[in-house]
Amino acid sequence: MSDRSPREDVAEVLVSEQEIQEVLDDLAQRVTSDYADKNPLVVGVLTGAFVFLADLVRRLDFPLEVDFVAAASYGDGTVAGKLELTKDVNRDPNQRHVLLVDDILDTARTLSTLTELFVERGAASVRACCLLDKPSRRAVDFNADYVGLEIPDLFVVGYGLDYAYGYRNLPFIGVLRAESYRT
Ligand code: XMP
Repeated sequence: MSDRSPREDVAEVLVSEQEIQEVLDDLAQRVTSDYADKNPLVVGVLTGAFVFLADLVRRLDFPLEVDFVAAASYGDGTVAGKLELTKDVNRDPNQRHVLLVDDILDTARTLSTLTELFVERGAASVRACCLLDKPSRRAVDFNADYVGLEIPDLFVVGYGLDYAYGYRNLPFIGVLRAESYRT
């Protein structure tokens, strides 16, 4: 096993630690003005959202509850698969204001399906908050209510985002060197 720093595999830092802090401050302000009196159920989408959610909720100085879902899409690999919950929330979302939190909005299949699910379960409201958005990759007509930053169609890692289960611990968001992808 290599003990090389994951930083050595990064070709370019796309969003620096400093920039992430600024984006978080802005998102936290917007979420606070909409949710301060709503005791929301903040639902992180595992695994990628764990760092973002942890940093976001520590900026929210009002009552809220944190819960998590994990979702996997299954199919034959060529067409978009159906979304399956591999971990569900512990709290009952009925009559709750649900704020879904994810690392990145890509095709939007995950968050649009989760939004429908929580609406069906009787949530009082369902909104989505993403740190990153790749609008050029959309497969379904869905946008998040709170977006930190729009980025181009690049595969990014760090700050919770992985490649092959690695790199989630990088404190910034970056693009890997071509030779770091396993073939
Ligand atoms: P949707 O359903 O919007 O799914 O296509 C979003 C999920 O796709 C993953 N994803 C990425 N993960 N770097 C990653 O590490 C990326 O650039 C990237 N783009 C999409 C991620 O799990 C996200 O929650």
